[in-house]
This record gives sequence, C-alpha cells and structure tokens, in this order.
Amino acid sequence: MTILVTGGTGFIGSHTVVELLEAGYDVVVFDNFYNSKACVVDRIKKITGKDFKFYEADMLDREALDKIFDENKIDAVIHFAGLKAVGESVKIPLRYYYNNIAGTIKLCESMSAHGCKRIVFSSSATVYGEPDHVPMQEDFPITHATNPYGETKILIERILKDLSVSDPEWSVCCLRYFNPVGAHKSGLIGEDPMGIPNNIMPRIQKVATGEWDSITVFGTDYDTPDGTCIRDYIHVTDLAQAHIAALKRAANVVGWETYNIGCGRGYSVLDIINAYERVCGHPIKREICPRRAGDIAVSYADPTRAREVLGWQAKRTIDDMCRDSYNFRIKNPKGYED
Ligand code: UD1
Repeated sequence: MTILVTGGTGFIGSHTVVELLEAGYDVVVFDNFYNSKACVVDRIKKITGKDFKFYEADMLDREALDKIFDENKIDAVIHFAGLKAVGESVKIPLRYYYNNIAGTIKLCESMSAHGCKRIVFSSSATVYGEPDHVPMQEDFPITHATNPYGETKILIERILKDLSVSDPEWSVCCLRYFNPVGAHKSGLIGEDPMGIPNNIMPRIQKVATGEWDSITVFGTDYDTPDGTCIRDYIHVTDLAQAHIAALKRAANVVGWETYNIGCGRGYSVLDIINAYERVCGHPIKREICPRRAGDIAVSYADPTRAREVLGWQAKRTIDDMCRDSYNFRIKNPKGYED
C-alpha cells in the first residue's frame, strides 16, 4: 500500500514517515521546505534503512500534485502540509487562510481526479477554542478558535466533512493533536523551529543547552494546583503511530471521523521544567512572567475514542519526551545544519 505524506519533512510528518516505513508501507513524500530542511529526507532513510520517493513541491501547485498522482498509485494521503505558527497567523491571516485552505482544496481535487479518496488530516486540539470543561471530547461544540491558524483547522475539518457527505466513497479521519513534543529516539530527527521558538519544549531545550539563560513561566496565578497552565503533552512517536492506526481504520470505514490524540492527562509548566531538569541533570532557571495572551488554563484530552476504536494509546512518559527532546538538541546543537 502506498501512502502520500504531504509536509513529510516537518516535525510530525518526518516522524510519521519513519513509522510508516517501519510498518512496511511504501511512502511518497512531498514538501516545499518552507519550514523544514532537505537533510531530513536522508535522515529518515538513515533511521529506517529504507528508501522512498520525494518530491519538492507545493500543494498550491495543482500540476505538481497531479504529476505525483500520475506517477504513483497512491492509496491514501496523510496531510500535514500547512502553515502552523499561531502568532504569525494573527499577523498574516490571509496568507494562512489561502495557503492552508486553498492548498487542501487543490489536494482533494487532485486526489478525487485520481480516484484516491482516503485521507488522514492533521488537525489540532486548537479547534476546541476555550471549552467549558475538560477533558476535551470529540463531540464538544466546535465554534471558533482563538486565532486564524486554529480557524484554518476548523474550516478544513468542515470542508472534508462536506466532501465526505457529497461523495460517500471518501474516508476522512481528522486527528486532533494535543501538544506534540519529544523527538525520535535516534536523535536524528526532532523539532527544529525556525527563528525564536514559541512552544515550551524547544524553549526549555535552549535553556538546558545553555543557549538561553532562563525559561519564562507565563503565569503562576491560574486556577491549577501549582498556578501554571496544564497541557496534555504527547511524544511525537506516539503521535506518529496514531496515524498508522487511523490509516487502518480509514481503509475499512467510509465517512468522516475525528479522534483526540493525547495522553489523557495534563502536566503543568512547572512539571515539564522539573522533568527536563531530571533528564538533563542540571538546574533550569525559571523567570516568572505575566500570563501570555490567549492561553487557556487547562487543556487535556479524553482519548477514549482513539483507544476503543483505533486501538491506539500513547505509551511514552513525560521523562521520555524530555529525554528525547534533549538528546536531539545535544546531537544537533544548531538544529538541522546540512
Ligand atoms: C500552542 C498553540 C496550539 C498549537 C500548539 C502546538 C497557542 C494559543 N496554541 O499550544 O494551537 O497546536 O502550540 O504544540 O499558541 N509556556 C510558558 N513559557 C514559555 C512557553 C510556553 O510558560 O516560554 C506555557 C504556555 O503559557 C502554555 C504552555 O507553556 O501554558 C504550553 O505552551 P505552548 O508549547 O506554546 O503550547 P500551547 O499554547 O498549548
């Protein structure tokens, strides 16, 4: 079975390609390297000892998409490609809406034209916005996100839902990720954000390796046990494996489905910093700062549906996440250089 992975050299995409190759799938990858590096292709081959076809292409280029489908018999698509920086999406919303939505429409048109109607979509817990209570469940009302990036995830989910209603041959599986962190255990691939990172784990990494002096703790006055925000962190390899489970499901069931992909338990900002200290073996200096605008106090998944229907469950611990994150940074102090 041949799987096309869009955005397959990005953080989650690259880990998913590794898991696909190791599970015996044939894989075709495309990426425009907007937010990733070409060396990731070779690193995936090094980890797996397997080869795969790679296209440098943009999903907004319909001809390039058609060429990929013409040259390969694609059975299903895992769709990661898209712009993903929350802050940037507030500054340049049109670019986010156009790229993520028009790109997905072109992808689906090309899939349809080539008789490929099975897709696993990389969605996000951000679609829940600010829910009334936790844990978040898939049937919570999806009204609006807190930023344009999140809105593109909501809109794409809806577009895919409408598509599956219009043509009952489509099989759509939307995976709503919680907070993906960590890296492949080899240390060859991991998270390498461009510019100054916004997310907590790459920021702690910089402090742990001495590049930064301290980690900012955004708010200690939340209504949580230690006053800091709580999130459901999930190891990127567990997350990647959820895509294999979703592919298997999509091969047998048509229609539109959503699944929360999280561990089902929350850790506070201080929990994460303490765990990182444990694995790197030296103190991580904290700087208590005011709340960051737009943050919700508590977010964690109810992953029951994924466990019961997909047969998938996260296995890796918070220490595994921090250890692998640290290992990647130690082995790649400046990120992907080649
Ligand atoms: C963010 C995005 C979400 C995206 C996810 C990807 C927002 C509002 N949401 O989630 O859409 O899917 O990243 O992983 O941006 N924190 C600190 N100090 C720091 C950095 C972060 O205390 O230096 C705290 C934040 O306040 C938050 C927690 O750490 O409580 C996690 O932050 P982050 O890693 O940015 O993820 P989210 O905001 O949950």
